[in-house]
Parts: sequence; C-alpha cells; structure tokens
Amino acid sequence: MSEQEIYPVPTAWADHARFDAAGYDTLYGRSLADPGSFWLEQARRLDWIKRPEIAGDWSFDEADFHISWFADGKLNVAANCLDRHLATRGDQLALIWEPDDPAEEPRRFTYRALHAEVCRFANVLKAQGAKKGDRVTIYMPMIPEAAFAILACARIGAIHSVVFGGFSPEALAGRITDCDSTILVTADEGRRGGKRIPLKANADAAAARAPALQTMIVVRATGGDVAMQDGRDVWYHDAVADVPATCPAEPMGAEDPLFILYTSGSTGSPKGVLHSSGGYLLWVSLTHEWCFDYRPGDVWWCAADLGWVTGHSYILYGPLANGATTLMYEGLPTWPDASRIWQVVDRHRVHTLYTAPTALRALMKDGDGFVHATDRRSLKLLGTVGEPINPEAWRWYHDVVGEGRCPIIDTWWQTETGGALIAPMPGATALKPGSATTPMPGVDPQLVDPEGQVLTGATSGNLVIARSWPGQMRTLWGDHARFFQTYFSTYPGKYFTGDGARRDADGYWWITGRVDDVINVSGHRMGTAEVESALVLHARVAEAAVVGMPHEIKGQGIYAYVTLNSGETASDELRAELINWVRTEIGPIAAPDKLQFAPGLPKTRSGKIMRRILRKIAEGDVSSLGDTSTLADPAVVDDLVAQRVA
Ligand code: WT7
Repeated sequence: MSEQEIYPVPTAWADHARFDAAGYDTLYGRSLADPGSFWLEQARRLDWIKRPEIAGDWSFDEADFHISWFADGKLNVAANCLDRHLATRGDQLALIWEPDDPAEEPRRFTYRALHAEVCRFANVLKAQGAKKGDRVTIYMPMIPEAAFAILACARIGAIHSVVFGGFSPEALAGRITDCDSTILVTADEGRRGGKRIPLKANADAAAARAPALQTMIVVRATGGDVAMQDGRDVWYHDAVADVPATCPAEPMGAEDPLFILYTSGSTGSPKGVLHSSGGYLLWVSLTHEWCFDYRPGDVWWCAADLGWVTGHSYILYGPLANGATTLMYEGLPTWPDASRIWQVVDRHRVHTLYTAPTALRALMKDGDGFVHATDRRSLKLLGTVGEPINPEAWRWYHDVVGEGRCPIIDTWWQTETGGALIAPMPGATALKPGSATTPMPGVDPQLVDPEGQVLTGATSGNLVIARSWPGQMRTLWGDHARFFQTYFSTYPGKYFTGDGARRDADGYWWITGRVDDVINVSGHRMGTAEVESALVLHARVAEAAVVGMPHEIKGQGIYAYVTLNSGETASDELRAELINWVRTEIGPIAAPDKLQFAPGLPKTRSGKIMRRILRKIAEGDVSSLGDTSTLADPAVVDDLVAQRVA
C-alpha cells in the first residue's frame, strides 16, 4: 500500500471474521456484476410475508426518474426485529437501557419482553386512531418508551417522524405541520447530564402553532409537573393499562414508507427524508453485519440519539433485525465525568462501541486518566460516524481506548443513504487513520469535477454515487420535485452527496467534508440558510450570513455575520440576545459560536453574498481572500476583517 500509516487486519479478525480481503473482493465484484441475483439472494436474510422476485428497479435520469427495491415483496419491519427472534432467542436480551444517573438501575428487556412492550404501545396508538400510512411524530428523551413507540409505528404501518429532543417548539411545530401529523408522542421531561429538558412544555408550545395536532400521548419519565389538556392529552401509563400485549403486525409492501426524518439542506426549510420498509431494513441489517461482524452474545452500543438517523439505523433497526443485544444510553459521554462512557462499557461488557469523532475529541481533551481508570477488556471493535475523524483522534481511539487491539470502523454515510456506504470490514480491510476506506457491496462511488466529468485515479473531487442501493431514500415528504432537484440534477444520472472526497492510489476514500452550504456541527447537520432565517426574524436584524469555521471539539462551529436595521446599535448584550434567539428558535445545536456585527456584507453586483470571503475571515485566513474586485463595494471587506471576532 502506498500511504504511509497503515494498520493491517489483526490476525484474530482475519481468521474468524465473516469476510477476509478476498471475500470482500468477491462479494463486491458480484454485487456490481450481477445486482439482480445478488440482491435477491441478500434479501433472503429478512423474514418476508411474500418474498420478492424483483430486486432494484430504478433510473436516476430525469425523463424516467424512479427508485424502487423488492417492489413485489411484503413484510413487516417490526416483526423482523422482534417476532421472528422469539422462537430462537426470546429470552436473550434485546435492549439494555443505561440511565443518565449512574446511581440508578439499568432497565433490561428480552426479545419476548420488548415484543410485548411494542405490542402494547401499538395498541395504544391504534386506540388513539393511528393506522397504516398515518404520520406519528415522536419527541422523546432517550428512554425505552421511545424505542417502543418507534417500533410500534412500524408494527401498525404508521410512518414515524422522530424529532430530536433538543429541538425547539418552533422547529417541532414545523415538522409536525409539514407531514400533517395528528398524533405526537412525548414525555413529561427528558434528562441529560443531570439537567431536565421540558419536553411536554415544548410540545404544548409547538401544538399551539400546529393546529392539525389532535392527540398527545405523554410518557411519565421523570414525574415532573406538566399541564395536561383535556380531550387532547393522554398519559401513556393510563392508556396502556387495559390494552393486550399482542398486536398483529400489519403486512406492508416493501416500498411502503417506514419513516420520515427531517434533515437540513443547503437551502430552505428542513427536508423530510423518507425511507422505505424492505430496502431500508435490508441495508441496515446487512451493513450492521458487514461493518461490525456482529455475533450472537455481543453487546452492541451505538452511542447516538434516536432523534438522528444513526439512532434509527444502528440503535434499533439494524441490530434488532440481526437479533443483537443493543444498548441505549440516556445521558452524555462526559457526565458525571469523562470516565462515564468507559464505565458503561464495563458495566454492560460492551463488545462494540460506535460513536462520533466530536465525542472522542471532547474525551481526549480531559486526558487518558479517565480511560485508564476503567477496564474495557470487553471491547473488540470501535466505530465512528458523523464527520471526518482527524487522525489524532483516530489514533487515540485505537491506541488508548482500544489498547491497539480493536479495529476502528469509520463509516461514511448520510441521513439520505439509510446506512453506511463507505466503511471497512474488520476482517477484510487494512485501515488508514482518517479514511472511511472502501465501498460497501453494491455501492458505486465516483469523483466528478464541477462540470460532471468523471475523474479517474488518485485525485479529489465531488462525491457522487452512480447507482441505486436498497437503503437509499425514496423521496422528500410532499416534494418529489425537490428530491430530484436536490440530489440528481447537479450531475445528471448520479446521486450527488454534497460531500467532497479524495481517492488515494490504493483506491481508499477520504471524505473531506461538505461542499455545499451545510455545516457539520458535532456530527449534526445544520443548514446555513436555516440559521440565517432565524436571525432575520429578530426585529432588530436586517440581514445575516452564516458560515462554518473550524472548531476544536465540534469539528465545525457556526460563525454568523449580522447587519442590524438602520438606527440600531451593536452591543455585547445584543450579541448575546441574538445567539440566544437562535437557540430558542431552532435549538441549542444551532446557536452561533461567534457573531460579528457587519455594517455591510460582501456582495457581487448582482447581490449574491460571497460566502467564500466570509469563510476565510471566519477561519482567520485573511491574507488570502482572493479576488475581491467583483464586489459591489470592495471596502466592506476591510471593515469585516477589522471587526473579526477572534
Ligand atoms: C454528513 C451526513 C451518517 C449519520 C450521521 C450524520 C458527514 C458522516 C462521516 C464520516 C466523514 C462523514 C458527511 C455527510 N459524515 N459520516 N465517517 N466521515 N464525514 O448524518 O446528518 O445526514 O450528515 O455527515 O459530510 O454528508 P447526516
């Protein structure tokens, strides 16, 4: 191999993993050479009510644009995650829940117990009128009832739309309204790092702006005080008291929607990414096995939140489809201190940990002592996701956390892709710190230049995927035209990821980050346009422009330039007020790290803001601002540089 720093496959993994290097080559080759029979064969791992005879049927061309997988198949996703395991592993643990407060007891559910809980939740939803195709919004803390609610929707064929508990009432209302949800599942309060989050109060505020909402099912999580509205709100513990613990699983077409998940784009309001039932479940089940070589008895921990796609795919659907024991953690990696994550590993004998680079950087900063204070001998594999991992954090994860024995599985994917597209297989792939390595079977990545020319050899470019895979999103809720426009119009005939990448001489892929106006804050996606719209809603703001800037822990931070209305004066108080304004309009993850008052923004003569210049200033790279001669008023740049927030 040509690049210097290479970590070969440990012999133990090469000997016992499902795939070695030759096995991967064969599998990958077959997947592209004969996709029809390859995918029908893979699909047999699921439990079908009617097994499909058609695999992929798709075209990315505008004239004939369509994407479908296993269209003649019928299945139920929740039955695949629960019922089919009852005979063989009914008494095995399916879900372990670790509470925020380490002094509290974990909760544990066998497959049999989880099945009963999901059936009960499904019966409660049905009693409230939910049926196949209805949208149910879920705004929950990381408690087992969130998992029950999600799987209950899948069981009855309702489409779930999970909204991260850190989002504001405003953001929640927008998401409820966009998909016309009439039912909201929430809890009295959430808990994270010892703090309470007023979910029910937020839900009430959201409901005031979402008139179509008819029902709120409220889980009592903390016992905190909440207001219940007669005729609209029901306590889950009351509603569940007299429903049966069995509920038939609704037969679903493979192409029937499973869920909507809102995510930020480069323009406009958040987009409702829609995933299907059969193709999605196959993809998350396969990739969970391929990337992590999951074996019965292993305890699997994906330390994400159910509010993001990582939680959907790798806390619930993938692992449960594979009959795994999956761990769900309510709290923060750094609370009560930076040992917590490793204490949880020891407490539950975790085999594989899957987390984000931002968490690793935060833990790394507190020193190795917190890691060394724990045993971690149960760990065999370590995964990462959400943003490019800097080699320094990679090495720390590998050397300090994994003591050199655990391969690092860096998985590149997106909300839109359903599951991992570029990632190593532990028995097959030699690793390079910072590279997501090689594509999954069936995945055909390419690099293109801005004109769409396909680039060959070792080079950099924009990352596109040249063919469909089963886990691909199917549409944007309510806006199929925007789906095509966003992902398939830039490079005709190809899915455009929005990422830039480099392919090295060994064919390894290195994701370099977004090439559009999306910022990756702590592994979460934030659209610059969304933050800008929130800022200009403030009565004293005339205009705003937002860009990403490097951030030591978060990967990227948010840098906002704000022009005030004439007559308004800039002050530190106003700066703090505006940052807080964004926090309450969208949520804490959208709050700008830095906010600069700018009397003018750099614009072209046609009025387009030149973000390239704003990015450079935010980065502190003011010596190479490039050509500013096309600006309507080049003088604004000097002022921006002078006023830069360091
Ligand atoms: C964007 C997708 C994947 C689930 C969590 C985030 C970036 C994601 C990696 C990785 C480099 C990565 C990309 C991508 N990203 N994983 N392993 N290496 N970059 O999902 O919110 O849809 O964000 O996250 O930029 O486009 P998301």
